[in-house]
Amino acid sequence: MRVLVTGATGFVGSRLVPALIEAGHDVRVLTRDADGYDGPAGEVCEGDILDAGTFEHALEGIDAAYYLIHSMESGTDFAARDRRAAHNFQRAASEAGIDRVLYLGGLGETRQGLSEHLMSRREVETILADGSYDLTTLRAAIIVGEGSSSFAMVEQLVHRLPVMITPKWVRTECQPIAIADVIAYLVGCLDVPETAGDTFEIGGPEVLTYRELLERTAGIADRSLFILPVPVLSPKLSAYWVDLVTDIPKAVAHPLILGLKNTVVVDDTRIEELVPIERTDFTTAVERALGQQTEPDSAERAERAQIEPER
Ligand SMILES: NC(=O)c1ccc[n+]([C@@H]2O[C@H](COP(=O)([O-])OP(=O)(O)OC[C@H]3O[C@@H](n4cnc5c(N)ncnc54)[C@H](OP(=O)(O)O)[C@@H]3O)[C@@H](O)[C@H]2O)c1
Repeated sequence: MRVLVTGATGFVGSRLVPALIEAGHDVRVLTRDADGYDGPAGEVCEGDILDAGTFEHALEGIDAAYYLIHSMESGTDFAARDRRAAHNFQRAASEAGIDRVLYLGGLGETRQGLSEHLMSRREVETILADGSYDLTTLRAAIIVGEGSSSFAMVEQLVHRLPVMITPKWVRTECQPIAIADVIAYLVGCLDVPETAGDTFEIGGPEVLTYRELLERTAGIADRSLFILPVPVLSPKLSAYWVDLVTDIPKAVAHPLILGLKNTVVVDDTRIEELVPIERTDFTTAVERALGQQTEPDSAERAERAQIEPER
C-alpha cells in the first residue's frame, strides 16, 4: 500500500515508518523540514499542515495516511492550532480521495471533564471523522518508550527526586502501553479492513495508579522514592514543581499534568481480537525505555504483529 506518515520525525512516527516498510508498504513522510529528515522513508515531502496549500502534494496517490500530529510545544493556543490542523488535513485528505486515515489519540471519558489536552485530542478525532475516507482511531494513555514526552517526565522525576509531595492525582488509574505495542497496533490495523471507520482503545496488560507507575519506574531505575500525597496541593502547583525538576518544556508538561486527574483506562477491548498481539509487560517496557533492554528487532516485531518478515 502507498502510505503517508505525518509526524514522521516524532516519537511515534519515527518508529512507525521502519515498521511499515518492513511490512511491505511504500512509505512517504511529511515534515516541516525535509532537509532535517534522516529516516528510512522512500519519499520525503515538506509542508506545514497549519498552512493550507503547503502540504496537499503529500497526499497525491496515497491509499492510507497516519495522522500523528499535535502542537503542544507551541504553547497555550495548542488546542486552536490542533483544531485548524485537523480541519486542513481532513479537507485535503477528502479532496485527494484517500481510502483510510489512522489517528493516534488519547484515552479518557468525556463525561469525567477531560483536561484541555485530552479534550483537544478528542476534538481532533471528531474533526477527522468528518472526512470522506474511513477513519481508524486508536486511543492510548501514556506511551512508554525513549523519547516519549509523557514518559520522559516520569523518568526525570524518579531520577531527580527521592521524595515527592503530590496532589491526589497519584491515585488516578492509567493503563500505560509500550511503544512497540502501539506500533504493532498501528501497522496491524492497516491489514484488517474491519478496523476501518472505527475507534479502538489500546493499553498494556496492567492498570496502575500514577503512584504505582512512579514507584515501579523508580524500582526499575534502582532509585529510592517516597511519595507523600497531600490534599491541598493543586495540579497547577505540581506543574510548577515539575518545571523546577525536569527539563520537559513547560508548554508540553503543563497540559500533560493537568490531564493526570482523568482516568485513562481501556474499557473497550475489541482491538485484542482484531489485531492480536502479545502485549509487553510494564517492567519490560520501562527497561527498554531506560536502555536496560533493547527494543524488539524486526523479526520479533513481525512475529508480534503476526506478519511474515521480509526476506
Ligand atoms: N507520547 C505519548 O505518550 C502519547 C500518548 C497517547 C497518544 N499520543 C499521540 O500520538 C501522536 C504522536 O505523538 P508523539 O508523541 O509522537 O509526538 P511528537 O514526538 O511531539 O511529534 C509530533 C510531530 O508532529 C509534527 N507536526 C507538528 N506540527 C506540525 C505541522 N503544523 N505540520 C506538520 N507536522 C507537524 C512534527 O513534525 P515536524 O516537526 O517534522 O514537522 C512531529 O513529528 C499524537 O497524536 C499524540 O497525541 C502520544
